Amino acid sequence: MTTENRFQIAAQELAKRFAPRAAEWDKSREYCWPNMAELAEAGLMGMTIPKAYGGQGASFHDAVLAIEEIAKACTLSARIVVEANMGGISAIMAYGSDAQKRLCAPLVLAGDKPAICISEPEAGSAATEMATTARRVGSGYLLNGTKHWITGGGVSKIHLIFARVLDERGQEEGIGGFLVICDPVKGDIPKGFEVVRREHTMGLCGMPEAELRFTDLEVEAEMAVVPPSGFARGFADLMNAYNSQRVGAGTIAMGVAAGALDRAKDYLNDRHQFGRPLAEFQGLQWMVADMDAGVHASRLMLREAALSRGPNGSPFPDMMMAARAKLFASETAIKVVNDALQMFGARGYGDQEPLERMYRDVRMFTIGGGTAQILRTQVAGSLLGIKTPQTRGGYVPEAPRIAAE
Ligand code: FAD
Ligand code: COA
Repeated sequence: MTTENRFQIAAQELAKRFAPRAAEWDKSREYCWPNMAELAEAGLMGMTIPKAYGGQGASFHDAVLAIEEIAKACTLSARIVVEANMGGISAIMAYGSDAQKRLCAPLVLAGDKPAICISEPEAGSAATEMATTARRVGSGYLLNGTKHWITGGGVSKIHLIFARVLDERGQEEGIGGFLVICDPVKGDIPKGFEVVRREHTMGLCGMPEAELRFTDLEVEAEMAVVPPSGFARGFADLMNAYNSQRVGAGTIAMGVAAGALDRAKDYLNDRHQFGRPLAEFQGLQWMVADMDAGVHASRLMLREAALSRGPNGSPFPDMMMAARAKLFASETAIKVVNDALQMFGARGYGDQEPLERMYRDVRMFTIGGGTAQILRTQVAGSLLGIKTPQTRGGYVPEAPRIAAE
């Protein structure tokens, strides 16, 4: 594939530096601040931000080329690159006001990984059932609710919080995004914003996954991210932007798998048993062929999705292509990394080799960002041309949740 470009080359250089330290973040569970600084310096933070706001106007396709290279070396850093170029920041750049863009772009370019806050304890896959509200009061909104499993919660400065928008009488207008910018690391957080706790995770250990609680949190009206068709279609528009993050997440999984496959190929030639290199055993050769086919197919699907656009002039990847690519890449990657670990025997199971960490890291990608089951439902719905709402009776905004005063 002759797709090398300057973002990919920059990522390959950084990957060489990140690989030796990847285990360190895993063991210490510390956020990789030094890597963020290097990513920012290399121009990989906010590369997709338009030039008018200080970015490089790179495409999602440029981003996936870079993400794959970083993911081969350090899953944690790859997640940062995804969220600094896709998902929340891309929604802000597409739908935000000029002032919002001027506020957020420099933070990301300087190394902030925005946090996208959708999931709640009672609304995971059923995101449309979110209970967090943003109620119009005077010149702004009051946010109330709890978000959990928020990647970067406690370290990120930019928060894009999805909430049900209520007017002054408590009538629901739809779902919107609300920007809260603060610095939890320095304890600089507004009244009513609380980082409740951090989850203890199986993999991706250096990345905080946190529960955030909002209690009468005041947000100025200028900080509401209102998609072009308003709050009534806000959820669909915001999720449309989120399709970019699904492509990014799938690319991380594929990159980890590609890294595991590279290691396995080397090991099969180096390791001898029964007086022969492992590479001469057909049982392992066929495994390598299947692993390579899976990684290659994932890469093609992800790149195709990154280049695609949804209907009606959408600036974001097509929903079905993004869902299909993330679904296939995440499930394939878990199998590929598991097979690579198997080829290393006991060494794969121990922490002298990175495969046990890669296996724990990659396991997440069929869960976070839309589970494999939810993605299958979206792909099937698109293919069959039928609307398959999972909520009994379909998604109906529940209004009003708060009685008018
Ligand atoms: P549930 O929705 O309770 O699902 C449980 C099981 O039931 C799953 O297997 C699911 O596939 C299945 N299921 C549910 N509904 C259906 C259905 N209709 N048909 C078939 N099967 C179904 N969220 C954020 O908002 N921001 C983040 O930054 C973020 N980061 C995350 C990082 C990590 C490491 C993880 C693990 C999660 C993260 N999440 C984040 C949350 C993530 O998006 C949710 O975990 C995910 O959407 C699933 O929700 P749930 O965990 O509540 O599972
Ligand atoms: N891209 C574009 N539009 C999307 C979308 C996406 N990824 N996901 C949903 N929408 C649109 C739907 O097409 C629908 O629009 P319509 O009213 O024109 O038909 C609208 O949003 C509501 O979606 P619907 O499928 O009717 O909602 P539901 O109540 O059945 O819930 C979802 C299903 C969308 C919440 C579920 O499929 C989902 O994606 N859950 C995972 C949430 C997630 O990824 N969280 C990640 C947090 S980091």
